[in-house]
Amino acid sequence: MLRETFATRYVTPLREGGSLPGIVEADDLGTYVMKFTGAGQGRKTLVAEVICGELARRLGLRVPELVRMELDPVVGRAEPDQEVQELLKASGGLNLGMDFLPGSLGFDPLAYEVGAEEAGRVVWFDALIGNVDRSWRNPNLLVWHGDLWLIDHGAALIWHHNWPTAGAWAQRPYDASDHALAPFGPRIAEAAAALAPLVTPALLAEVTALVPDAWLEGEHGFDTPDAVRAAYAEVLAARARTIHEHITVGPPTADKPSQAPGWLTGGHPLPTPSTLDDAR
Ligand SMILES: Nc1ncnc2c1ncn2[C@@H]1O[C@H](COP(=O)(O)OP(=O)(O)O)[C@@H](O)[C@H]1O
Ligand SMILES: [Mg+2]
Repeated sequence: MLRETFATRYVTPLREGGSLPGIVEADDLGTYVMKFTGAGQGRKTLVAEVICGELARRLGLRVPELVRMELDPVVGRAEPDQEVQELLKASGGLNLGMDFLPGSLGFDPLAYEVGAEEAGRVVWFDALIGNVDRSWRNPNLLVWHGDLWLIDHGAALIWHHNWPTAGAWAQRPYDASDHALAPFGPRIAEAAAALAPLVTPALLAEVTALVPDAWLEGEHGFDTPDAVRAAYAEVLAARARTIHEHITVGPPTADKPSQAPGWLTGGHPLPTPSTLDDAR
């Protein structure tokens, strides 16, 4: 089971992404990014976060710790934002927390170099989980203590939105042309050779068992939470076997200038008071 925590203080919303996660403190004195069951796509987002995050971790990729977080909506009583109030009210009970990485920077391909081996592992993993949410537009990668960390798998495992057609996903190709790590020459065949053998039925059972029953109960077409877990495991096991044959890395569909400030990319000196004056 994921470690259990209780939210003690709602600090602030994170408005970068679409799902309005919040920074929350907990009874273990930790700080977490909380993903709410009451948000847009609801519990399926959280299921994807748990399965993908814990699978990535077991494949040797860095993912901040995931915890179960109990929320009493009264912790947000002082929060003035109506949208946040409603989200908290709709999310009482069990939610998901991800350890907050203080001082981490959003990944920028012009500011941080990734090795071809690591790039290959991340691209192969994203192909496995059908993740289209790691593009250069929105990398969902953080750089912390000089290392790359994976976040935000809420949009992956798309097939769980239509289980009757999920079987076809075993062979469904993955276009990595827009992947944030495509420019680093990802060594995909090598990654597949190293990682695919690790995606065993035992590992998939271990990872899917970490999803709380409450987020799987009542899934249309399934009698029990374990039957849903088995369905997730089946698609992932099938995809792991051959997905590397169906990954394409073409030229990116558009260029994007770096969002990073010049002092980070090394292209420009730090602003001084006089250059700031010039800019005014
Ligand atoms: N564990 C974390 N540590 C530090 N910052 C984080 C963490 N998780 C998310 N963030 C920040 O919050 C933003 C939104 O979180 P994300 O998980 O991507 O949610 P969304 O589904 O809204 O895109 C991220 O782009 C990142 O800047
Ligand atoms: Mg995001």
